Amino acid sequence: MGSPTRNGVAVQRNASGADPLASPEYFRDPYPLLAAVRSGGPVQRIRTGNGRTTWLVTGWAEARAALADARLSKDTARYFADRPSNRNLAPAVSRTLLATDPPDHGRLRKLAMTAFTPAAVARLEPRIRVLAGELADALAERAEADLVEGFAVPLPIAVISELLGIPEPDRAAVRRWSDELFAAAAPDTVDRASHALSGYLTRLIADRRAAPGDDVLSGLIAARDDGDRLSEPELVSLAALLVVAGHETTANLIGNGMVTLLRDDALRARLRADLALLPAAVEEFLRHDGPLTVATFRYATEPLVLGGATIAAGDVVQVAPGAANRDPARFDAPDSVRLGRAGGHLSFGHGPHHCLGAALARVEARIAFEVLLTRWTDIRPAGHGPDAVEWRRTRLMRGPARLPVTFV
Ligand code: HEM
Repeated sequence: MGSPTRNGVAVQRNASGADPLASPEYFRDPYPLLAAVRSGGPVQRIRTGNGRTTWLVTGWAEARAALADARLSKDTARYFADRPSNRNLAPAVSRTLLATDPPDHGRLRKLAMTAFTPAAVARLEPRIRVLAGELADALAERAEADLVEGFAVPLPIAVISELLGIPEPDRAAVRRWSDELFAAAAPDTVDRASHALSGYLTRLIADRRAAPGDDVLSGLIAARDDGDRLSEPELVSLAALLVVAGHETTANLIGNGMVTLLRDDALRARLRADLALLPAAVEEFLRHDGPLTVATFRYATEPLVLGGATIAAGDVVQVAPGAANRDPARFDAPDSVRLGRAGGHLSFGHGPHHCLGAALARVEARIAFEVLLTRWTDIRPAGHGPDAVEWRRTRLMRGPARLPVTFV
């Protein structure tokens, strides 16, 4: 592929210019293609499905640098301001903490952070264990079950819904909107879902303001009403981000981890025998097959050189944690699962936007594996086995669409 140049396109698999990160082979196993891109240089220009080009950062050191580089903005509203668009996304969904640059970003993040410190999350642990246990009890009644629909997806939804005080009957609709926002759905479906979610959360906030509870949302409303530190639209968009950011990511961490475990009888036995190894297993699952193959988009506000590539002002840059986490320059034998590796995976990002829910996701995943490994003598893949997993067909996320298992 040669060294990257300003106009060079590193990966262009076919003459139609189809997005290489949207092929059936990529959905099945994205790592060979990401490694091929990286072998041409840690920062490469690739063509996306709509014929545009984007920089893809696949080297670990370059990815880490890009995630903390102030010249790479996440302010999508500013980016799209000078580009014509027929999109009609609700501002609450498009203008979140994740799409804000410093210094505004710091103010919003500080308010949101108190609910997600490791200490605050540790207090949730008993409740998460109860929710995971209830889901496992429901699975136990069946001879064969789908771990994705029956466990990996509903657990994070239940946790974030309880945190925000979303009533049980509303959770199915919230999940549908959140799925539609993430799946590669038609643009008008995505736009409609964004308005539905933002309208719903606006009403929920009004209800909670009238009758506060001890949930995170009530706490954020109090912070907003006390000294006006958070505007009403900022409050709605923070709630929307918390709903959307924690759902599918955590579900896929649990799902991908289970795929790895189902493929490795010895690892299942080892973890079952020593649950104290679970935190190390969660870290290695995050690195080895994390939920986000390619993270969210950034754009250059001024020219910069990254990994030998010259990026122009206005260019779009995407960091691929899935590639960085398997960079052989950083990790020995990056394709194999080894507990207790030195840290440094980028699955939760890095720098000012480092995942706010990282502590929560880690606890949820640890408890999920603990429950799944100890509730039965063993869990085995059903049907065609773990090598025939049907993967979700999304470019940015990675996770099984279904995971049929039987219980021993
Ligand atoms: C940001 C990954 C779970 C809330 C991020 C970012 C990544 C990430 C990579 C940074 C994106 C970027 O810099 O472009 C993950 C993964 C998860 C997970 C892999 C599960 C395994 C959660 C959960 C929550 C959450 C459970 C909340 C309940 C957020 C928020 C941000 C964020 C609010 C934005 C932070 C900011 O912009 O300052 N996440 N996340 N995430 N995540 Fe997570």
